[in-house]
Amino acid sequence: MQTQTEIQAGTKWVALLDAEARGLVAAVDAHPDACRVFNGTIDAAGYIHYLIQTYHYARWSTPILGEAGERLKRLGRHPELAELLIQKAGEERGHEAWLLSDLKNLGCSQEQVEAAARSPAVDAYTGWNFFTSRSGVPTAVLGTAYVLEYLSQTRAGVGAERLQAVAAIPNIHKAVTFLRSHGALDGDHVAEMARILERLTDPEEQAAILFSARATRSIYPGIFREGDSSGLPLAR
Ligand SMILES: [Fe+2]
Ligand SMILES: [Fe+2]
Repeated sequence: MQTQTEIQAGTKWVALLDAEARGLVAAVDAHPDACRVFNGTIDAAGYIHYLIQTYHYARWSTPILGEAGERLKRLGRHPELAELLIQKAGEERGHEAWLLSDLKNLGCSQEQVEAAARSPAVDAYTGWNFFTSRSGVPTAVLGTAYVLEYLSQTRAGVGAERLQAVAAIPNIHKAVTFLRSHGALDGDHVAEMARILERLTDPEEQAAILFSARATRSIYPGIFREGDSSGLPLAR
């Protein structure tokens, strides 16, 4: 049973997590290419760049979340959060296949996608999140999940609709599965995480989750095409 003070503290700390998530949405809105992905006006090369870079981090979501959950379980701490991490590992399974399918419908083979250069942001994202999952504070992975699912609930579904409405990219109606599916799912996922995280009172764990939320908020906009808008990132 939680005391009134604990409930207030819980609500307050999740508000800090929400602030990180809103910061990520603002950073995405301020990034020229990211903004155009979600308002539907992006060109084919910019959208393909986004999907390829997303593939190179999203393919690791299940191992990152799952290994964090299993390690937390072995450590015998926060069993509810360990279960949440393991559940989320299951939810993310196979999402990289949506990206490969969207990319195939835009003319990019799996071989091309696999051979594409990863942006520094993707390497930073996978490096940081594998570190917290396997060796740092495993619950920190939830900070990353929270801000990305918050972004998804606010921008992914609308982005899929706008891309199809603007239709600047040939075959786009067959290439929005990743965005459309996340827009539909992640509203509930954010609400569920907030409800569970409100009960977390350990300040060290809260700090680790907030730190990862902030790391992901600063890294993530770097997955979008930067500056020069010429061509695909297909050469290594
Ligand atoms: Fe996903
Ligand atoms: Fe989700």
